[in-house]
Amino acid sequence: MAVLVTGGAGYIGSHMCWLLEEAGEDLLVIDDFSTGFQWALPDSAKVYEGDVGDQELLAQIFKENDVDAVIHFAGSIIVPESVENPLKYYLNNTAKSRSLIEACVTAGVDKFIFSSTAAVYGDPEVVPVDENAPLKPLSPYGTSKLMTELMLSDVSNAHNFRYTALRYFNVAGADPKGRTGQSTKNATHLIKVACEAALGKRGHLGIFGTDFDTPDGTGLRDYIHVWDLASAHYLALKRLRTGAGSIVMNAGYSDGYSVRQVIDAVKAVSGVDFEVREEPRRAGDSPKVVAQNTRILAELDWKPEYNNLPKIVEHALNWEKKLSLRNSL
Ligand code: UD1
Repeated sequence: MAVLVTGGAGYIGSHMCWLLEEAGEDLLVIDDFSTGFQWALPDSAKVYEGDVGDQELLAQIFKENDVDAVIHFAGSIIVPESVENPLKYYLNNTAKSRSLIEACVTAGVDKFIFSSTAAVYGDPEVVPVDENAPLKPLSPYGTSKLMTELMLSDVSNAHNFRYTALRYFNVAGADPKGRTGQSTKNATHLIKVACEAALGKRGHLGIFGTDFDTPDGTGLRDYIHVWDLASAHYLALKRLRTGAGSIVMNAGYSDGYSVRQVIDAVKAVSGVDFEVREEPRRAGDSPKVVAQNTRILAELDWKPEYNNLPKIVEHALNWEKKLSLRNSL
């Protein structure tokens, strides 16, 4: 019995693959390598290069292997790009998910774990935000993910098919053992950008807005270590294997850190006092996005190991250094 990871060569997907390998699971990956890297994968992964919306390829994968479950990461994730090119997001995140879900139903694959996002809440009125809060995405990215959640819900009512949607908050850090990390060029994530500034890959870091209604005026976010997030997926898989029903869960620590606190942590861990400039707000940014995580703690026996901002930063920084060496080869 194997687990099929879509987008397994990407940032979060590759951590999932290493975790599954450590757990002794048979591992299949489908990835088009548009943003992922073959070297990020464990050797034991059986890799299919192709499109996650290609139903012929999916039927072949399901025929050639005894697939127990699908963990679906493949998709597009850049919020501003989704505003400029919404159809790309409705194709990659919604239409191709539909094709994948249909292929699962046809092949009788009945367990599915989906990468959703806190972006489905938009600018939450109550923080920490729980899963029953109004769903008001502010971008086509958030809407494209929400549409897939809705499809999953309908499909699970109609067919022998159960799913878990994990709504990720701000994923950060890298594999504690240094095998993979966030490797995308031109990334916009705060912790990655700050690590790049600390290593001199960028001249400075801009703080996007200092006049929010938050303790120090900068944006508050719930940074979750990517390894803890991968663990949550594995526990969600084990839960579905017990026969438990479909569920939607926030994946975050329920702790908010401001942009200034993140910058201070990166400066302290790296020992580099890089230049920081105060800049205007970035369009569409919410003041505070922090998870209420009581559901995931109750439903999964999830014991986050890295709920510690300096640790997250240390792992991100170590990976960024490795990436510099790799790129200079
Ligand atoms: C992140 C995810 C998004 C997800 C959302 C869920 C990324 C790139 N995006 O968005 O996919 O749906 O969480 O809530 O991870 N900031 C700066 N300067 C910078 C970069 C960021 O001040 O150079 C600030 C932002 O204004 C924000 C915070 O840092 O307050 C985090 O930003 P970022 O890492 O881009 O993630 P989100 O926009 O929260």
